[in-house]
Amino acid sequence: MSPIDVAAEVTSNQPLSPDYNVVALAAPAIAAATAPGQFVMIKAGTGHDPLLRRPFSVFEVLRDSRGAPKGISILNKRIGASTALLYTVRPGQRIVCLGPLGRPFTPVDPPIDAWMVAGGVGLAPFATLAQTLGARGVRSILFYGARRAEELFYMDFFRSLGVELVLTTEDGTAGEHGRIVAPLERALASRPAGAPVMIYACGPEGMLAATARTAATHGRPCQVSVERIMGCGLGGCYSCVVPMRDERGGFHHVRSCIAGPVLPGDQILWE
Ligand SMILES: Cc1cc2nc3c(=O)[nH]c(=O)nc-3n(C[C@H](O)[C@H](O)[C@H](O)COP(=O)(O)OP(=O)(O)OC[C@H]3O[C@@H](n4cnc5c(N)ncnc54)[C@H](O)[C@@H]3O)c2cc1C
Ligand code: FES
Repeated sequence: MSPIDVAAEVTSNQPLSPDYNVVALAAPAIAAATAPGQFVMIKAGTGHDPLLRRPFSVFEVLRDSRGAPKGISILNKRIGASTALLYTVRPGQRIVCLGPLGRPFTPVDPPIDAWMVAGGVGLAPFATLAQTLGARGVRSILFYGARRAEELFYMDFFRSLGVELVLTTEDGTAGEHGRIVAPLERALASRPAGAPVMIYACGPEGMLAATARTAATHGRPCQVSVERIMGCGLGGCYSCVVPMRDERGGFHHVRSCIAGPVLPGDQILWE
């Protein structure tokens, strides 16, 4: 299906912390077409700086009182020009938004369990994935790591879906002190070989590489959502390439905006 390009009205902007916010956009057609793990290309400002759109995962599909899709939200982390603009948008403003784009997560069915591994803003694609998994009756755990307690968001949302939470913070202010791959590794080591599990990961590249390696060590499949710099989101600019192993022991590059962002973790050539 072709992506939809709209000038979407901002319906709310909820600050979560000095760096994070959630922007809701009225974009019913994009909302109706989105699968978990897909993204949109957003131009946060109206001028020429920044010139290019930026990629953002669809965080939530927003619905009206009858359950019809009415919009999407974006979990935004301020790191540069566009994300700073997105932090300050006001309701009523219009934002150019193209999507849904990219290859989504492949959801599993029982008896396979789902373990989602999120680092920081890498939480974004897991709200819709957790809802989809819940509707299929899949038992899910969210391994969620952040820098500090104040940067752990939407935990009640996941709990309300029946998702078990395993938390870590780098400063030890909530959950286990350290990185999220440590409890994931322990959980994998103690899981019986006959109990199937699919691992889904999104976050900083180092966390994705560690998660993919840990999953491979324990013989478990792993779908990772990579975050490369994306100039177009449509396969035209090659700014987003990822090296992947091929069957002959070599490697080739794929454009993560169209072959991904969700890719098999064991096939990526991690640098
Ligand atoms: C598929 C996909 C989904 C994403 N989903 C989200 C999301 O849901 N929420 C969110 O806040 N962000 C998300 N991102 C990251 C987001 O696109 C970048 O933070 C954004 O492009 C930065 O734009 P900027 O203008 O604010 O920063 P810029 O001024 O362009 O850059 C600031 C600094 O960040 C670096 N940078 C820019 N983009 C990236 C990147 N993708 N990875 C690592 N470093 C980068 C630049 O090299 C520069 O050093 C996603 C990225 C991808 C590829
Ligand atoms: S972002 Fe342009 S080819 Fe992928």
